[in-house]
Amino acid sequence: MDVKNIFVVGAGQMGSGIAQVAAQAGFEVLLHDVEEKIVVGAKEKIRKQLERVKEKGRLTAEELEAILGRIRPALDLSAGKGADVVIEAVFEKEEIKKEALKKLDGICPPKTVFASNTSSISITRLATVTKRPDKVVGMHFFNPAPVMKLIEIVRGYLTSEETIGIARSIAAAMGKETILAKDYPGFLSTRIGMPLINEGILALYQGLGSVEDIDKANRLGLNHPMGPLELADLVGLDTILNVLEILYEGHGEQKYFPCPLLRQMVDAGHLGRKSGRGFYDYSGKEKKPAL
Ligand code: 3HC
Repeated sequence: MDVKNIFVVGAGQMGSGIAQVAAQAGFEVLLHDVEEKIVVGAKEKIRKQLERVKEKGRLTAEELEAILGRIRPALDLSAGKGADVVIEAVFEKEEIKKEALKKLDGICPPKTVFASNTSSISITRLATVTKRPDKVVGMHFFNPAPVMKLIEIVRGYLTSEETIGIARSIAAAMGKETILAKDYPGFLSTRIGMPLINEGILALYQGLGSVEDIDKANRLGLNHPMGPLELADLVGLDTILNVLEILYEGHGEQKYFPCPLLRQMVDAGHLGRKSGRGFYDYSGKEKKPAL
């Protein structure tokens, strides 16, 4: 299949990053969300990111406008009727993703491939709400999508070889490396990454060290670009909690049990960067530990 049009469903931090990457790769992108202000906000965020790239001399003003021109807002899911590929990036809850895919299945032509950006939910189960389970695949991007080099491709039980090939070719066009994972809770990357974040939160909960020292341990001791707490703030604590619950339920193992502190913070609305406060406080110029 010659992919030209990509319909990105969900204009949150992942959806907007994916839309940016797709438009930079030359695809025509429709970016959907339920509220106009979310899509407009996402496009503004993309413009700011591209301005930074332009300032570094890696993009001309014309190229910047051309990339932005390839991203068109879509408030109605029916805009997906001409899409070659849908990339679903709605909230990380199975029911929400299923609802979106079911509606899209009634809108998009049978040839359209459905890629889900889920980091943990079963692709096989998501595919059951469609009449095209062979065309449903996982394309798991990492935050921030324009920077992170990997896309984890997930093969559902019924995903066809052709669909895997299409996902690989889109990733290659986006300049990304890929890995191929089987459909099991948390696939490869999430299963490895989330317990590390949860462990960092547990260390804080048990009073073993300060927020800054826990992060410093990973940054300087393990050479990770971010410590587990600042990474949790970047990804969003609500997403981390949802994913850990899926891992805990899916594997039935205590090691994935979400730290009670994480749950309390989510209940309190301290979701990380997106809410202005998580393990750090983002209200000032410099982030400061909030706990
Ligand atoms: N969008 C686009 N570009 C961005 C960006 C964003 N949100 N944030 C940073 N960048 C770019 C900058 O422009 C800069 O580009 P350059 O090197 O070409 O000049 C580059 O990234 C580095 O940025 P900074 O100099 O501002 O800051 P850092 O060097 O501290 O890097 C970081 C920031 C890239 C976020 C780095 O700290 C990092 O890699 N952190 C770890 C991120 C990570 O692990 N992500 C995966 C999370 S798990 C996940 O997403 C899975 C999900 O499903 C749960």
